Amino acid sequence: MSTAQETYNDKVVRQFTVMTVVWGIVGMLVGVIIAAQLYWPTLGEGIPWLSYGRLRPLHTNAVIFAFGGCALFATSLHVVQRTCHVRLISDKLAAFVFWGWQAVIVLAAITLPLGLTQGKEYAELIWPIDVLIAAVWVAYAVLFIGTIAKRRVKHIYVANWFYASFIIAVALLHIVNNIALPTGLLHSYPVYAGAVDAMVQWWYGHNAVGFFLTAGFLGMMYYFVPKQAGRPVYSYRLSIVHFWALIAVYMWAGPHHLQYTALPDWAQSLGMVFSLILLAPSWGGAINGIMTLSGVWYKLRTDPILKFLIVSVSFYMIATFEGPMMSIKTVNSLSHYTDWTVGHVHAGALGWVAMISIGSIYSLLPRLLGREQMFSVKAVDLHFWLHTGGVVLYIASMWIAGVMQGLMWRATNPDGTLTYSFVESLNATYPYYLIRLGGGVLVLAGMGVMAWNVWRTYRSAQAIAPQPVLPVEASEARA
Ligand code: HEM
Ligand code: HEM
Repeated sequence: MSTAQETYNDKVVRQFTVMTVVWGIVGMLVGVIIAAQLYWPTLGEGIPWLSYGRLRPLHTNAVIFAFGGCALFATSLHVVQRTCHVRLISDKLAAFVFWGWQAVIVLAAITLPLGLTQGKEYAELIWPIDVLIAAVWVAYAVLFIGTIAKRRVKHIYVANWFYASFIIAVALLHIVNNIALPTGLLHSYPVYAGAVDAMVQWWYGHNAVGFFLTAGFLGMMYYFVPKQAGRPVYSYRLSIVHFWALIAVYMWAGPHHLQYTALPDWAQSLGMVFSLILLAPSWGGAINGIMTLSGVWYKLRTDPILKFLIVSVSFYMIATFEGPMMSIKTVNSLSHYTDWTVGHVHAGALGWVAMISIGSIYSLLPRLLGREQMFSVKAVDLHFWLHTGGVVLYIASMWIAGVMQGLMWRATNPDGTLTYSFVESLNATYPYYLIRLGGGVLVLAGMGVMAWNVWRTYRSAQAIAPQPVLPVEASEARA
């Protein structure tokens, strides 16, 4: 039985929600800058901390771990309280997770432009920051799983399964990939070497995609799509199959990042086969999300938040169809090193990850502030079109550029010499870099609209009262 006085800890959720928007703007602004640098290579010339090689990891870290991370913290800590009918187990731990994570982000934003890096993609941060990440992550795991343990309902809602798997897997990946021998405060050597180091790194890299950029966001899908549509999830049984299939398969697909390298050939083929199998659970889950709308499709006409959520799942389907195709060795021999990969990445990152996050936050924020809706629904709609237009320009231009590059690089004359020099392929790519930049500017403009709307929604909210924990129906209660 819930006590009437107990309230939810919405403070930490609100903090993470606001920071999602702030870091989203910062990370995407850096994305726009590096997109501009690829078109105007002399931009920032002479200033080391504005050089492309330093700003690129700043972009990936800011969008994945700061923007995506804050969205995951905000929604998971909201969902776990609402579905378990209980307050987070500790306010102090929640505050530590929030401030600890912001400290990680600020340290990343200082060290990366200074050129301090471990040189492992998506795991660039130097070892002292890695230690802080591990501490914050363990606190987060205790907070989230501890709250589930204290739940007042019998079953654990499927969104929490996905969030929990994301939390556990990321802890495992982060710790194993970052084991290193420090040689000073700012430098270390990895304990792995050669092909083993590469394999561990891409086991990490691919599962960062699978768990950081996918499983947690599927948690969002399973809570916010039904909530916003006002319908139960399409098939609970499918969601369980989806969960176990995804968890079982993802861990084995990493070698597809290392096709045609020094990695043993059998490992490359194994990675390819598991990637192809991965199509099934990915699409099964996506169909479960989209079909949740059956009977209420008409809502898509009027509800821009639902449009964000459903279009994001469609981009998820695009990325998870394309990924398995790109893992096929013969396809990868064309796509690898080209902008096709970058197009694939952003179909997943800007289409799936960013849109599901933005949609979930538009759905969540008014509830947190005791309002029916965002300050301006029209502005949400405008954001939807700016973002969708931007993503389409981004990924279409990169697909075309990527396939063109791959074909130009492999073209040979009858005498066996190369038909095109590298510079010719670069010249042919320029127009597409400009189109991508245009797409990025649209996406960033959309984030500006979101910031304004969030600000106005906050300002027009009444005094924010703590919300009481909702009672549990007898049939659902835990014995
Ligand atoms: C305004 C929006 C964005 C713009 C303009 C943008 C632009 C870029 C550019 C120019 C690159 C470098 C590509 C290269 O080296 O050839 C890049 C890489 C990357 N971006 Fe973004 N980006 C944006 C949003 C995002 C978001 C929201 C995410 C993730 C949630 C993301 C994740 C990544 C990743 C993972 C890479 C590395 C890709 C790879 O190594 O293949 N980006 N981005
Ligand atoms: C069934 C699912 C997926 C499979 C099998 C898959 C497969 C692949 C393959 C084969 C590559 C190219 C590797 C290379 O040539 O270097 C790749 C790159 C990448 N994919 Fe996916 N993908 C999937 C889904 C996704 C999703 C949903 C996202 C984002 C949310 C994503 C993010 C990335 C990133 C960031 C990279 C670039 C890694 C790098 O080189 O820096 N993928 N993926």
